[in-house]
Amino acid sequence: MSTADARWWRDAAIYQIYPRSFADDNGDGVGDLAGVRARLGYLRDLGVDAIWFSPWFPSPMADAGYDVADYRDIDPSFGTLDEAAALIAEAHALDIRIIIDIVPNHTSTAHAWFQRALTDASYRDRFWFRDGRGAAGELPPNDWGSIFGGPAWTRVADGQWYLHLFDAGQPDFNWDNPLVREEFEDVLRFWFDRGVDGIRIDSAAMVVKDPALPDFDPASPPDPHPWNDRDEIHDVYRGWRRVADGYPGGRALIGEVWLADPQRFALYLRPDELHAAFNFDFLGCPWDAKALRRCVDETLDAHAAVGAPATWVLSNHDVTRHVTRYGRTETGFEHHLRQTRHLAPTDLALGTRRARAAALLTMALPGSVYVYQGEELGLPEVEDLPAAARQDPIFARTGGADPGRDGCRVPLPWSGTAPPYGSGAPGWLPQPADWAQWTVQAQTDDPSSMLSLYRRALALRRAEPGLGDGPMAWLDAPADVLAFTRGDGFACVVNLSGGPVDLPAGAVLLASGPLDGGLLPADTSVWLRVS
Ligand code: NOJ
Repeated sequence: MSTADARWWRDAAIYQIYPRSFADDNGDGVGDLAGVRARLGYLRDLGVDAIWFSPWFPSPMADAGYDVADYRDIDPSFGTLDEAAALIAEAHALDIRIIIDIVPNHTSTAHAWFQRALTDASYRDRFWFRDGRGAAGELPPNDWGSIFGGPAWTRVADGQWYLHLFDAGQPDFNWDNPLVREEFEDVLRFWFDRGVDGIRIDSAAMVVKDPALPDFDPASPPDPHPWNDRDEIHDVYRGWRRVADGYPGGRALIGEVWLADPQRFALYLRPDELHAAFNFDFLGCPWDAKALRRCVDETLDAHAAVGAPATWVLSNHDVTRHVTRYGRTETGFEHHLRQTRHLAPTDLALGTRRARAAALLTMALPGSVYVYQGEELGLPEVEDLPAAARQDPIFARTGGADPGRDGCRVPLPWSGTAPPYGSGAPGWLPQPADWAQWTVQAQTDDPSSMLSLYRRALALRRAEPGLGDGPMAWLDAPADVLAFTRGDGFACVVNLSGGPVDLPAGAVLLASGPLDGGLLPADTSVWLRVS
């Protein structure tokens, strides 16, 4: 690929592939690299600039691959290193970049270092092993809970405990140990040497812990926290940036940084640290004009201060699909509310109309945009998965109270009228019987489909010089209508007011739904040429 557009990450449209659920070529019910390679043409036609792969490494799948046993290989259920190399080359030939998911906060209990640590005390300092409290060390070393539910500590045979902020199969690394730092810089080089264009950094704000491992203090502010957003973390990413900058044209570093404070968030995006980070404030934002405008303004202000591009994200493999969210009374997303909102009454037609409008909003905003596989098909969350089918550790660790994230991870429907919709075998999670309407085949030639909207919008976004990176300016608009201009004569208008409003003057380039004469209906967006 040319290095002339070395700043591609500033305005790319990035498609997230969750490998287990994208496309199953060998008919074992689990997606694979061969399935991706066979569908690179689909992604080229969709109009994406890059693919981000959720972890593809060997893994016991305690957390669907976010428990990595070997950072330098491919899980056999997905394929081989040679297939990964072929995939990278084929994607590059189509001008599609490859981003892979590196998980530095924790590993898998199957990782060689952890296995060694179980019997060799000299390896324990690569993790957080501690003696327990209580007369016989029978109590965990502190009161931290796992983010997935239950305690954050598990006891090993000799009586010590190890820390895992997520599942017990995911021991946390000790980033105070220089061996851990060296190892990950080497892992980055391993993949960059194989042509990978960027890294998505899992749980990026959590890697450094307060070495005293103090009990959780409910009175202290949420961040910095004994295990989140500690100031020392920035040294880690400065080191990674030096590695990335050592390659011609550089390589991109994109952080998964969940922080409430936009100023602390922006610290990760200083010029010598990460290139970009996911905008979870936008993802969680309710379908509400004032909330969205506040989010856009805060996002752009925080990013401008450090010269970084904003990112716009509506869904990913961890959150309720936005077609479903937007069809409810409560349209925002927060992890801790997932269980109370599960199975809430949902108007899917309304959610879909809003999702179409939201797509045009996100693709018109300054910066890069992420598309989670299946959102371009308008897939809803699958909420009625049987308990026996659920695999997300959150479900088990909360005793079934929290349904977890399986509902957004159901394998994509490609063709046909019944499960497995074009795959050779039933998927690892069951697909609903009524998904025939959402297959790629059903939508490809339907100009009113979600897929057609995404294709047209991404093509226009690429062709329109004012879109992507660059400034925007709000326009005066009626209450609960968002209107802004980009570049020279491009405008985006989003009507969240609940009723029709006058369509501003201009030639319609694209609308998210039917227009009503000179009116822009509720929950509809339009792109206009205004000069
Ligand atoms: C964030 C990932 O997106 C999520 O899927 C995973 O469970 C946790 N980090 C732990 O790796």
